[in-house]
Amino acid sequence: MSDTQLRDEVMTLFLAGHETTAIALSWTCYLLSENPCVEAKLVEELRTVVGEREPTADDLPRLRYTEMVLKESMRLYPPVWGIGRRAVADCEIGNYRVTAGTNIFIFQSLTQRDPRFFTNPDAFDPERWREDPVRSGKIPRFAYFPFGGGPRVCVGASFAMLEATLLLAMIQQKFHLDLMPGHLAEPLASVTLRPKHGIRVTVRRRASST
Ligand code: HEM
Repeated sequence: MSDTQLRDEVMTLFLAGHETTAIALSWTCYLLSENPCVEAKLVEELRTVVGEREPTADDLPRLRYTEMVLKESMRLYPPVWGIGRRAVADCEIGNYRVTAGTNIFIFQSLTQRDPRFFTNPDAFDPERWREDPVRSGKIPRFAYFPFGGGPRVCVGASFAMLEATLLLAMIQQKFHLDLMPGHLAEPLASVTLRPKHGIRVTVRRRASST
């Protein structure tokens, strides 16, 4: 690689990897503050699996509910809300003829709330991930695609799930977050799906379980 290429690669990794994960965690903390029953279940899992110590990658297989919470959060608020492609040749997709040069956009933000694939699509319900609906054939493979798909699928997907699960566990293990009264958590569809006014919360240390 030339120096410029190397710089560009590093910047892509940094930007693609930093903001997306941070946004996923922000929306997840917002959703938890609005859904105390889900928060209670999550905290219960954290108490059982990690207790007071620091969670590590070895805990991941047992942090099932924590992962389900993240997956459901990225369904409702996909950090990457849409992706685009340009057809390099004439082709047919479904029943649509696509000519070379046409731009096509695919929106996680729409498909992942489509009632054909998700019952009660606007509800925050991590339980829908208990049995993986893609693997069990309940929904088509690309009805849920926060990390994209195909040859340009996110190269950081596994790492993102690893760091986001551990970070969520560490934050929620120690702190309870209350949304500031009257704060409007409004999505802003920029390159990523940012909370327009941030997620403003009051942070309280959780009581120790021992
Ligand atoms: C929750 C976190 C993340 C989400 C939601 C996410 C989402 C995505 C999506 C949807 C794409 C495909 C874009 C397209 O098809 O046009 C993508 C690509 C990419 N992501 Fe991620 N990503 C996340 C975390 C990360 C992390 C942690 C890294 C690196 C450490 C990373 C590095 C990349 C790179 C380099 C690409 C471009 C891959 C290519 O074009 O071959 N991402 N990401």
